[in-house]
Amino acid sequence: MVKIIDDVSRTFNEFLLLPRLTRKEHVPSNVSLRADIKRYSIQEDKDGKEVRKCLNVPFVSAAMQAVSGHELAIALARKGGCSFIYCSQPIDKQAEMVRKVKEHKAGFVVSDSNLPPCAKLKDAVELRNRTGHSTIAITEGGKANTKLYGLLTSKDFWEFKDDLEQPVRDYCTPVESLVLGHQGITLQEATELLWKNKKECLPIVDNEGNLVSLVFRRDYFDHKSNPDELCDEHKRLFVGAAINTRDYTERAKALVDAGADVLCIDSSDGYSEWQKETALYLRKRFGDIIIGGGNVVTKEGFRYLVEEAQVDFVKVGIGGGSICITREQKGIGRGQASALLEVCKARDEYCKKTGIYVPICSDGGINNDTHIILALAMGADFVMMGKYFAMTEESPTRKVIFKGRTYKPYWGEGSNRARNWERYKEGELGGMEFEEGVDAYVPFSGTLSDKVDITVAKIKAAMCNIGVCDLKELHKEAILTRVSEMTLVEGGTSSVEHLDRIEVQDR
Ligand code: IMP
Repeated sequence: MVKIIDDVSRTFNEFLLLPRLTRKEHVPSNVSLRADIKRYSIQEDKDGKEVRKCLNVPFVSAAMQAVSGHELAIALARKGGCSFIYCSQPIDKQAEMVRKVKEHKAGFVVSDSNLPPCAKLKDAVELRNRTGHSTIAITEGGKANTKLYGLLTSKDFWEFKDDLEQPVRDYCTPVESLVLGHQGITLQEATELLWKNKKECLPIVDNEGNLVSLVFRRDYFDHKSNPDELCDEHKRLFVGAAINTRDYTERAKALVDAGADVLCIDSSDGYSEWQKETALYLRKRFGDIIIGGGNVVTKEGFRYLVEEAQVDFVKVGIGGGSICITREQKGIGRGQASALLEVCKARDEYCKKTGIYVPICSDGGINNDTHIILALAMGADFVMMGKYFAMTEESPTRKVIFKGRTYKPYWGEGSNRARNWERYKEGELGGMEFEEGVDAYVPFSGTLSDKVDITVAKIKAAMCNIGVCDLKELHKEAILTRVSEMTLVEGGTSSVEHLDRIEVQDR
């Protein structure tokens, strides 16, 4: 006979956090959001033998076509988080994206605005308008990696006064008059040269005088303003990649060769023998690499992935994603709060029994910053988000304007648009005969950096209210209360009119 569990499936919205004593040391500048991403031994950590692998902010981006391309991965790693480059694409394309992130040298950029010396000023204006970059490299071949002839900036000519039919060679600063850096120079040395010579841009050239890259003064300040940047031991940006349970032997090799730091097995239901087989293969083949598994929503699913499949972190969540229709289509899933609370309890029991701590990622259903705070308080080490990142400038989609408002497209990996047949073709289930995700639009929310800064500020403020300075303390100290529907109403604004809903008349 069917078994019915006692508790109902609960969501984040049904909980609130109680404030606890805030001591004087509980100020945002003392709060750390470092989050474990790899299982570790509590004892070895205490003995100083364990090098824990951590994110600097507890956010990862979902392995989705509309979310995790290389640009978003670079932007997120620079803020301290990690992207999972999506696997619903050919292996070489995915590996290329990983490579782009690993090759991104903070501070050194490959010039993407180049013209040959014979180009006209009007070409420079057109290029500047198209790229938004006001520094143009003038090279013999008209592209990066050919011999540098000079640099043309907005200060070198007046668009509305100079004759735009004239060649750029007569207006640019010639290479003989430029301060140059030589290939192999460190970022610190390049910054010194910029500073000493009061320059905005330093071209880096090789022994033959070919342009290698450019270093900009403004990037130095940008770098300074991203103290949480997440890098590997070679100071390259940190990046993850998703894999499936079918072509994983070939795919994982290409991704590891490209430099992926974490591999995450991407499946809507991770409590399966395919997942175990994949994880064990990866462990045997790639040794110490970080391996994530999921998704699960029960303690049994957690134990299976941790004990049998030996993954490093476990992803929790089925059916809660903003574009997800799994629950409507198959009747499978669980409220995200209930799933997380049960799995985190199983994690703590496992830790008590074995001394091994396994990080948990809450995946999907984060609708606002409050949900992130609640997920972390419920025991998650970090959260995976799709919609949150799809809305930003750096997601791989183009902005669209509808009725004066700006949106970005966002679609599920189980939607027809994603054509992600592979992912749902596990075992005997056959191909994807029905959709599990929708194709939608989300409002544009600006740059990832600005968005993450605000979210981080809110989480830190909440942690100060709870009287904790890091995520481990938050897990221990957080007290949740269930809310009634009337509490939700009370929590919103009451008896006031919102400015955007009324016409304000000048007094
Ligand atoms: P969001 O942050 O609420 O937008 O949810 C993102 C998460 O939804 C992803 O990390 C996946 O776990 C899940 N997901 C992605 N595509 C689909 C789909 O087509 N159907 C169901 N779940 C999906």
